[in-house]
Amino acid sequence: MSDRTWWREGVLYQIYVRSFADSNGDGIGDLRGILDHLDHLEWLGVDGIWLSPTMPSPNLDWGYDVSEYRDVHPDLGDLATLDRLVAEARSRGIRVLLDLVPNHTSDQHPWFVDARSSKEAVRRDWYVWADPRPDGSPPNNWVSVFGGPAWEFEPSSGQYFLHNFLTEQPDLNWWSEDVRGEFEDILRFWLDRGIAGFRIDVAHGLVKDRTLRDDPPATDDDLADVRRLGQRPVHKMNRPEVHEIYQRWRAIADAYDPPGVLVGETCVPGLDQLARFYGTSDDELHLCFNFPFIFADFDAEALRKVVEETEAVFPSSAWPVWTASNHDLGRFPTRWCGGREAGTRWALMTLLTLRGTPFLYYGDEIGMTNVPVAEGEVRDTVGVRLSSEAGRDPGRTPMQWNADRGAGFTGSEVRPWLPIGDAGSRNVAEQRSDRGSTLNLCRDLIALRRRTPELRSGTYRSLPSPPGTWAWRRGAGIVVALNLSDEDTTMPLEPATILIATDRRRDGEQVRGELALDPWQGAVLGLSS
Ligand code: NOJ
Ligand code: CA
Repeated sequence: MSDRTWWREGVLYQIYVRSFADSNGDGIGDLRGILDHLDHLEWLGVDGIWLSPTMPSPNLDWGYDVSEYRDVHPDLGDLATLDRLVAEARSRGIRVLLDLVPNHTSDQHPWFVDARSSKEAVRRDWYVWADPRPDGSPPNNWVSVFGGPAWEFEPSSGQYFLHNFLTEQPDLNWWSEDVRGEFEDILRFWLDRGIAGFRIDVAHGLVKDRTLRDDPPATDDDLADVRRLGQRPVHKMNRPEVHEIYQRWRAIADAYDPPGVLVGETCVPGLDQLARFYGTSDDELHLCFNFPFIFADFDAEALRKVVEETEAVFPSSAWPVWTASNHDLGRFPTRWCGGREAGTRWALMTLLTLRGTPFLYYGDEIGMTNVPVAEGEVRDTVGVRLSSEAGRDPGRTPMQWNADRGAGFTGSEVRPWLPIGDAGSRNVAEQRSDRGSTLNLCRDLIALRRRTPELRSGTYRSLPSPPGTWAWRRGAGIVVALNLSDEDTTMPLEPATILIATDRRRDGEQVRGELALDPWQGAVLGLSS
């Protein structure tokens, strides 16, 4: 694997830091906890970790409301511990990416404290301010992603400020050259420290329409999230001018060796729009999350359609990303598979064998499911202010390391910041010693990918297969075949050997002319040359 392109062929792993491992018994996961579990990550075989926000923050949105961009939140550790984590992870072949939040800051950030102090403040222009309409109402019709108007009135200056998320998360003004310069410095600050790259929060949203035009109503083509808000964000987000910013960032990131990796949270409905974030000449983001795939139904045809279209519209230099769980949308074993183990195995096999970079979410490797969080225990502000169903806590609960009372996440007498799921039925320790477990399947797929060039970088081509199934070829020698139906199925296949099957008892089986798959079974096969 080339060092400069490690992120294309490797596997990335998202850690929600507060929930991974608590090293000091305060019930909150921390950087030291990650250091203590590098063995697991190395054993699993991941090449990089993306840490959910680590910077100081009042935590109204658990770190997505940053109050200082060049430091570490004291609940999680300090800069020295982060430096150690970067160095120790690196010595095990693992690189560390941070979450960067450039769209907005916390309202406690000194920039905003200054900006809101008066119309003449030095940093007034760092945020988006506008006069009320003649009747005193907000400047336009934009709605916040978290519900309600995206504008908050500031009585002292008689103007509104824009917040696309919580009121306490004012949007930065990316038309300001000072804001651009500041963030370019922030990128260098972390890249100089050995950070391998960034996941860029709301990457499609930074620039707003310069004249603040109203947004039109949502259409059926929009993603579910947009339809929920009833408004198509073509002016409050998704401005074409955002691409200039990423061209500048890419030049900065590419000056490092290996280049800093820029990964966009590009929540756009169309795959052609998504492709655009890679740049017209491979000069913007390195990787972009594919939300049409994440939001697709868990159905062979639906997933194949997104993958085929992605393959068709991406320019040859653009490298896809495959992910199915995250801290906003919850865990795929629940969302996609309704807790069905066979579905979880099927999905893991898909993520790890398509052409592109898989991003696993902590706990995916053991098939962790969403954990119900009782009304009084909701910690996500969105859940508290909107409705507990809207809350994102169920997908953010502590990692289940073992079957002890604190699940190996924290001490047995400690109350964790979010409730722990059923660690007795799913945990790392037990699955590690069970050769047939989800964890060992995940690890073996990662290892197979590492040693098989076709799986790392071979072309993707769909193969004809019966309804309810999906089969594809990687490069010349690998075939992946999956049955996502309740029926037994067979498909014609050249002579091949099953390298890994979701039902591990079939590993090593020889296939001659026809592959039979039970309901919900899948297999990676090596064609006999
Ligand atoms: C996307 C993040 O993933 C989410 O957790 C956050 O609430 C919003 N952006 C706002 O930063
Ligand atoms: Ca802690």
